Amino acid sequence: MTERTFSIIKPDATQRNLTGKINAVIEDAGLRIVAQKRIRMSRAQAEKFYEVHAARPFYGELVDSMTSGPVVVQVLEGEGAVAKYREVMGATNPEQAADGTIRKLYARNVGENSVHGSDSQDNAKLEIAQFFTEADIVG
Ligand code: CMP
Repeated sequence: MTERTFSIIKPDATQRNLTGKINAVIEDAGLRIVAQKRIRMSRAQAEKFYEVHAARPFYGELVDSMTSGPVVVQVLEGEGAVAKYREVMGATNPEQAADGTIRKLYARNVGENSVHGSDSQDNAKLEIAQFFTEADIVG
């Protein structure tokens, strides 16, 4: 089924000029970038976005890193987009990521892991709504 997922190209990647290379991996996998904008995430936005991780020891570090530079927020569309993008990203920890995945290719470590992707369709809807309106998304 055609569905949407939410993606973030994180500051560690935008800082190294990797937006185009990451987008190429996304598009080569058959996902369509149907909305995209480069923004600076506010602290409040990052805290809200990662609210589920608030009790984790790395939460502060995570919010710091997501607000440390520009990010590119995206809506990706395609057959089984949520699962497909997770496959394309590779494991959260780049040391465990499969060859050819974005994190294997570009991530520095588990904190600076270059990209985020939604883990379920429900979360994709919530995450997309935090950054885009329906009018921003052109399929
Ligand atoms: P992401 O997919 O954006 O979702 C939560 C993020 O928390 C994750 O990618 C990692 O960047 C980060 N994260 C997960 N585990 C750790 C950890 N042990 N130390 C630092 N950051 C982490």
